[in-house]
Amino acid sequence: MNYDINDTEYKRLSSLLYDITGITLNDSKKVLLTGRLSKRLTALGLDTYTQYFKYVTDPVHTQELDYMVDLLTTNETYFFREPQHFDFLKQIIPPGIKQGTVFRVWSAAASIGAEAYTIAMILADKLGVGGSWEILGTDISNSVLEQARRGHYRMSEAEKIPQEYLKKYCLKGKGEQEGTFLIDKKLRQHVSFEHLNLNVENMKKVGDFDVIFLRNVLIYFDIPTKQRVIANLVPCLKNGGYLIVGHSESLNGISSAITQVKPTVYRRL
Ligand SMILES: C[S@@+](CC[C@H](N)C(=O)[O-])C[C@H]1O[C@@H](n2cnc3c(N)ncnc32)[C@H](O)[C@@H]1O
Repeated sequence: MNYDINDTEYKRLSSLLYDITGITLNDSKKVLLTGRLSKRLTALGLDTYTQYFKYVTDPVHTQELDYMVDLLTTNETYFFREPQHFDFLKQIIPPGIKQGTVFRVWSAAASIGAEAYTIAMILADKLGVGGSWEILGTDISNSVLEQARRGHYRMSEAEKIPQEYLKKYCLKGKGEQEGTFLIDKKLRQHVSFEHLNLNVENMKKVGDFDVIFLRNVLIYFDIPTKQRVIANLVPCLKNGGYLIVGHSESLNGISSAITQVKPTVYRRL
């Protein structure tokens, strides 16, 4: 069923989403919001978006906020997306990792994990499956993180994975699992996923990374949000560490703590 939304209702719900996630929904996104929330209204037996706003902001229903964020975030991703970034990663991986150190990469808007496991395939190839490397994937949406942790995908999602990697690092589903693949455990054990909102003041430090991938999420943020998010991320980069954004994104004028080394690639000073 489709429910009408008036301007006040749209403003309230889009402001709520902005306050939590930093995602800006302008007026052209009304259809997107109603398209994604209408089933939820039906499931809850609510008749209007005013009722839904009351429900989602009622402290008794704190879980509903997470649910709303799950529904309103755009989680599109795929393996080996924007492949030039993975060519760049291959170039900057040191030939050997010094004893006692770990090469660490963070996929900071990980969605269902395709980016994190793409990075894992590259690192396994360069540093060995038993090498000293680890990957953290984080996202604000709990439902995508569940899939990321499973590392289990439809075969159609393997389209861009080079055959050689598919053979080495993925297990083809058989029987009931026909038509799917699982990321091999020897890769999965280097990769962990955590729930993390990038849009908070003074976010907790999640570690020191050699490379942070922050791709295809800044497009949803306005300038103050971008500044807050980058201020959160920069302290998590090792000196000289790299920050990579999506091909349609830019950090020009956003932070003086990083310098651009090529389009969409920045480095901590
Ligand atoms: C379009 S996906 C990008 C996935 C991947 N980085 C890629 O480039 O293919 C954007 C992801 O950012 C997440 N996201 C949006 N706002 C966020 C926030 N404030 N904190 C953390 N993750 C957020 C969404 O849940 C979504 O999974």
